[in-house]
This record gives sequence, C-alpha cells and structure tokens, in this order.
Amino acid sequence: MNWETFDDADALSARAAEILLTAIRDNPRIVLGLPTGRTPIGMYDRVVRVCSREYHCFRDVTTFNLDEYAGVPADHTGSYFTYMKRHLFDAVDLDPTHAHLPNGVAPDLDAECTRYETEIREAGGLDLTFLGLGRNGHIGFNEPGTPFGARTRVVELTQSTRKANADLFPEGHVPTHAITMGIGTILESKRIVLLVAGSGKEEALARLRGGEISEAFPASALWKHDDVTVLTT
Ligand code: GLP
Repeated sequence: MNWETFDDADALSARAAEILLTAIRDNPRIVLGLPTGRTPIGMYDRVVRVCSREYHCFRDVTTFNLDEYAGVPADHTGSYFTYMKRHLFDAVDLDPTHAHLPNGVAPDLDAECTRYETEIREAGGLDLTFLGLGRNGHIGFNEPGTPFGARTRVVELTQSTRKANADLFPEGHVPTHAITMGIGTILESKRIVLLVAGSGKEEALARLRGGEISEAFPASALWKHDDVTVLTT
C-alpha cells in the first residue's frame, strides 16, 4: 500500500484529480470506479475545471459508481445519481450511456445486482477505482462483517451509516438499504485509490494503518491488493 499525506483536503483533492486526469490521458478508454460522499467533491471540482478547458476529456471514458440507495429513484435529490450529475456528469463530455450506477428502484434488485456485475465485466473490468472510507471502515456500502469475496448485492445500512448520510434526506426518510459493489468486485479493479479526509476518520485510518486484515474492518481488504494508494490528510 502506498501512502501519501497532504497538508489539507485541498491538496489531497488536487492530487486525486491529477491521478484521475493522468489516467484518462494515458488511456482515454479507461473504465473508472467512482465514489460519492463528501470526500471526493474537491477531486470532481478540479477534474471539471480542467475538463472544461481540455475538450473531449471524458469522451471515451466509462464509469461505474460504487453504490446507490435502494428505493430511491435516480431523480431524487438524495440519490447518488443526482450527486454524480451535479458534481461530474453534467459538466463533462461523458456519454450518458457510459455512466453507470445501480438502479435502486429496479423491480428485481437482486437481478439488478447481477446485471451490474455483468455490465462491469462486459466493459472489460474496472481499471482504476476511487474509494472513500466510512467511519466504521466501510468501502462502498460494504459494512463491517462483509465477506471479502462479496459481489454486487443489496445490503442493509447500519444505523451509524444512515446517520452519517442523513443530510441527503432532509424529509427524514433515510434509506435502510442500498446496492453496493462487493469487496470482491472492488478488489478486481486493476488499481485503487482510497481518499481519506474529514473529521471522524482518525480511528478508521489508524486501524487501516495498523495492517490487521479482518472482515470486521472492510477497508483492510485493500491490503490484499497490490496496487492501492491511500491519500490522506
Ligand atoms: C457513504 C458512501 C461511501 C463513502 C462514505 C464516506 O457511505 N457510500 O462510498 O465512502 O459515505 O463518505 P464521506 O466522504 O462523506 O465521509
């Protein structure tokens, strides 16, 4: 695992954006795994700024988001699709048919998970995946106890995760379930970059640094991958 430490979230975001943009320049047809949450917003802001100057940045790129809330329509203000539209999709020349998120309101959610896995495989697999870190060590929505081989599936969110994400749902109905790429799916990405910034992450970060690999701490699965970079403040 490579560790890079930055003075502040701005510097971290600049580095994350640099990694993403360099990867697109090296392979314009790259398949990206993308996160949501507060941490990557600075990265997306910078990417959008550069891509408004560099025509055709995302023209041949394919993206797969890590997760989406179950029971939340794509056009809901709290959906991760809305987040991605706001922070990236609407501002770059990514082909909408190449921008994938699980459909949280599919009639058969299990079938939707299988479909998502197939789509990733048919796209050639993930080349580069960015992750955030939940306070309890979750990656995507893989909560503590998730088997490291897990594939894309429907999961129940813990109370602490629902609380951490409650401000997306001001009307009070915080979703209880989500669809998430599995840890096994994530580990198949050729390269992984974990972004860790913001308050409340100290304990999770210390646990990750400690190096113990345990399903009780999902992010520790990353120690099993040979190309992981952790960007932290
Ligand atoms: C959510 C997302 C995760 C994200 C985490 C941390 O639970 N599903 O993918 O990493 O939040 O979010 P934040 O960056 O806001 O701390």
